[in-house]
Amino acid sequence: MNDLSVKHLLSINDLNESDIDTIFKTADSFKEIINRPIKKVPTLRDITIANLFFENSTRTKLSFELAEKRLSADILNFSASSSSVKKGETLVDTANNILSMKVDLIVMRHPNPGAANYLAENTNTCVINAGDGTNEHPTQALLDCYSIKERHGSLKDLKVVIIGDIKHSRVALSNIYALKKLGAKVMVCGPTTLIPKFIHKLGVDVEHDLLKALQWCDVANMLRIQLERQDIQYFPSIREYVKQFGLNHEVISSLNKKITILHPGPINRGVEITSEVADSPNSIILDQVENGVAIRMAIIYLLAGKLNRA
Ligand code: CP
Repeated sequence: MNDLSVKHLLSINDLNESDIDTIFKTADSFKEIINRPIKKVPTLRDITIANLFFENSTRTKLSFELAEKRLSADILNFSASSSSVKKGETLVDTANNILSMKVDLIVMRHPNPGAANYLAENTNTCVINAGDGTNEHPTQALLDCYSIKERHGSLKDLKVVIIGDIKHSRVALSNIYALKKLGAKVMVCGPTTLIPKFIHKLGVDVEHDLLKALQWCDVANMLRIQLERQDIQYFPSIREYVKQFGLNHEVISSLNKKITILHPGPINRGVEITSEVADSPNSIILDQVENGVAIRMAIIYLLAGKLNRA
């Protein structure tokens, strides 16, 4: 069925397997369209979307904006640093003022976990979570899983390890939810201090030895150390982190197999991953970015179909 069970995209946990399948199939069609000489369809020319970014972004913001333009939607771009939020306006007041300009859908990135849910509960609009603090980044997880599926055919029983700062990563949590829904086996790997204590409740394995984790997996998703979200020092020094958890050519060469490498970006080259590995044929980092546009077109298109605009 070409329909979603949800009215917003707030958390991967809200989606069922059939929703994810619908998003992936719709993204397949849009991927074909955006590879044509004329990359645009008139599908959403009667829809207006506001992109509310209260936190920095390169990939997600541009990817949403391009997805909306490819669907012919009208767009409002809002940046918190130059808005009246600086004068004390609340999130709900800001959103309601934007909505009164006949906006149909809000895409929001916010530093506070739960901000997207809060907006969905307190306004009368469709909300897409573009990342809420350390909580979730559902569109990133969907584009990651789509890219893995594209490379491997299926996620069923595929072994995926997420490596790095799991504790502060919204990408990790959304990926765990999505990968498990699609039947993958999931492991997390990093320093003890950067693995949340509740992780076992999510049905994932934990490994602190990078080489063992890489020997186990088919796919490695490398995460950045999220220094902007760390209030204390979680490991002695970057040099020691790189020595224990940095992915380099030497480590990859020591494996007697090929593994697929992902990274959501932004990359800190020479810290969690070297340039040699990030730019190698086994890396699908730029495929992730390309697929992000098709996945976001699919999500916007499917949610716009559920809008009540009477
Ligand atoms: N992957 C990701 O969310 O990147 P940005 O922070 O640049 O949007």
